[in-house]
Amino acid sequence: MYLTRQEEKMFDGEFGWAHQVSMEILARLGDLFGAIKLIPIKSAHVSGVSYKNIGDAPIDFLEALFKAGGKARVSATVNPSGFDPDYLTGRLPARYRLQQSRILDAYKRMGIKPDLTCTPYYLREPRVGWHLAWSESSASMYANSVIGAWSNREGGPSALAAALVGKTPDYGVHRAENRQPRALVKLDTVLQSDVEFGALGIHLGKALKDKIPVIDGIPSPTNENLKQLGAGLASSGMLSMFHLQWEVPPKEELETISIGGKDVREAVGCLSTASERANLIFIGCPHCSLAEIESVARLVEGKRVTKETELWVCTSRHVKEKAKRYVDVIEGAGGHVLCDTCAIVTWIKSLGVDIMMTNSAKAAYYAPTLNGVNVTLAPLNKCIEVACNQ
Ligand code: F3S
Repeated sequence: MYLTRQEEKMFDGEFGWAHQVSMEILARLGDLFGAIKLIPIKSAHVSGVSYKNIGDAPIDFLEALFKAGGKARVSATVNPSGFDPDYLTGRLPARYRLQQSRILDAYKRMGIKPDLTCTPYYLREPRVGWHLAWSESSASMYANSVIGAWSNREGGPSALAAALVGKTPDYGVHRAENRQPRALVKLDTVLQSDVEFGALGIHLGKALKDKIPVIDGIPSPTNENLKQLGAGLASSGMLSMFHLQWEVPPKEELETISIGGKDVREAVGCLSTASERANLIFIGCPHCSLAEIESVARLVEGKRVTKETELWVCTSRHVKEKAKRYVDVIEGAGGHVLCDTCAIVTWIKSLGVDIMMTNSAKAAYYAPTLNGVNVTLAPLNKCIEVACNQ
């Protein structure tokens, strides 16, 4: 890969070890994927934050980076951690808190904003055509497909390296020719809820693997519908983006996948593993938008969450602040609006959860393996009915 004079200096260690190791990561990645140069990025988003997910091993490395002078050269944010600031703090072991604080402290000292959300686009929406290095797969999918920014789905280390260098290798969907669709999905049914959008995403991700699809038959989705579709696609597949339309005739014959109502219903059914009542209702995977919090508030207004059930609505601090009046309604009904974390990246088993109910196909896909709980996947109104025991 071609390096500029300054990049070579960084590679040779003239800017210190933290930037040298970051440049090594990027150069190796670029060589592996055939990039010929690095390109500047507008922002990085780093996953690998929750102590539950990453454990002890990377903590010393993160601390070594900031001690060696590692500093982000572009705006950078991080994914959710294992704790929220209030509700979970006293319910989990002190050692977990200590280790989580070390991780967050290391990121902060490197100048990375502790926004702790998987929806950084609600904080500062990138512009069309901006190059990014985002490592939360649902976020890079949203950035590419809904916003029109350009980001590969980075791993945590490569996003962190990109944050410190301010650049990323020019390969994958940073190049226009790699953003073209390679499959056509013909949808012959009207999707009824976010659950169906997410489950369709999981179903298609398995079939498409890394092929970018153009999906025909979604006439007027909301951005929240597309967030769920993309989160599902990125969970079970390796692709980075989808299109809803593609005007230019494709260069090659596209593989066609036809999807009917039965396929979507089966995809939803496959994601439910529980037959008993849930003791955690989890809304907010990916983290809720303002509109989603408003929807929850409208459904719980005048009701009461039962003592046997916890209702978690997960979002960023930024959105929670904007949603204050809806947050008051949800918390007044006995629910909890949590920031900085989610049910997948915290220790829900240790909190006594056996069965989770959620409206997120992504959460339903991961919870049985990552959290060891059974799941019921159901639309938001059903989730709130169960939370309030109706
Ligand atoms: Fe976000 Fe947690 Fe889902 S990090 S995408 S809410 S698994």
